[in-house]
Amino acid sequence: MHMTLTPHDFTDPSSPAVRRPAHDPFTGLRVAITGGTSGLGLALVRHLHDRGAHVAFVARGRDDVARVAAQHPGVHGIAGDVSSKDDIYPIAMQILGALGGLDVLINNASDLGPVPLALLADTECEDLVRALDTNVLGPFRLTKALLGSLAASVRDGSGAVVLNISSDAAIEAYPRWGAYGASKAALRHMSRIWNEELHADKIAVLTLDPGDMDTPFHAAAVPDADRSALKRPETAARELADAIAAALSRRLASSSLQEVRR
Ligand SMILES: NC(=O)c1ccc[n+]([C@@H]2O[C@H](COP(=O)([O-])OP(=O)(O)OC[C@H]3O[C@@H](n4cnc5c(N)ncnc54)[C@H](OP(=O)(O)O)[C@@H]3O)[C@@H](O)[C@H]2O)c1
Repeated sequence: MHMTLTPHDFTDPSSPAVRRPAHDPFTGLRVAITGGTSGLGLALVRHLHDRGAHVAFVARGRDDVARVAAQHPGVHGIAGDVSSKDDIYPIAMQILGALGGLDVLINNASDLGPVPLALLADTECEDLVRALDTNVLGPFRLTKALLGSLAASVRDGSGAVVLNISSDAAIEAYPRWGAYGASKAALRHMSRIWNEELHADKIAVLTLDPGDMDTPFHAAAVPDADRSALKRPETAARELADAIAAALSRRLASSSLQEVRR
């Protein structure tokens, strides 16, 4: 089922953001995560919030958004659909309204295409369109809408990173993963071009595969998988956070080098 919702802010304004010791690179960083109510996105919300980041997240299910926001005082929940063109600006405005700017955008929300997975010859065009809308156009539109704020963050000396969550299906031609694989391949390539084009602006665009994780998404794709062999989303969240921190410090180091050269 695919829902379109009016983006809505579920933040509890009475709950202050948790602050952590200044040595953690995420302390005080403003981070937006799409798909924050389940699996990897939820693990990222928790991990980055625990490390002192100011976090806003997006998902379609209003009840789940309200529940996750209530469980994490200080975290801002936004109900919206990243596959919907009409939702993107309201989502972006709520992210900026809640966080007062943005340092890190994580495009994590994703669509599998047809479920059960299907051969391309049996894939409905609507399933492919939905995968492309969610996995390619959503991240593209949201990045564009937030680019000015990310650039402002660089000017203020914080550094800025966009992380687009990828998959091995972006590279390997797995039968029955056609809609998802094609959309993730497009997202991966687009991320690499964004990264080249935004290099001069010192905005890093990463595209990383978290690995096979034990999440509802994986269960829908491979219902008979041995779940005990899958990575915990919390482990992937930690690894991705480390990659973001490394990218931030590389960009900040190159900023100061530029200043020395000038
Ligand atoms: N799990 C794996 O093994 C695996 C492997 C490689 C890559 N990945 C990638 O990892 C990322 C996270 O996957 P996951 O396994 O954690 O998925 P998940 O458990 O199914 O969680 C998906 C999240 O995205 C939200 N979402 C889905 N469509 C959305 C939309 N159109 N707009 C806004 N939010 C939306 C969902 O909430 P609502 O449904 O309420 O919107 C939910 O919060 C995805 O990019 C996936 O492609 C996963």
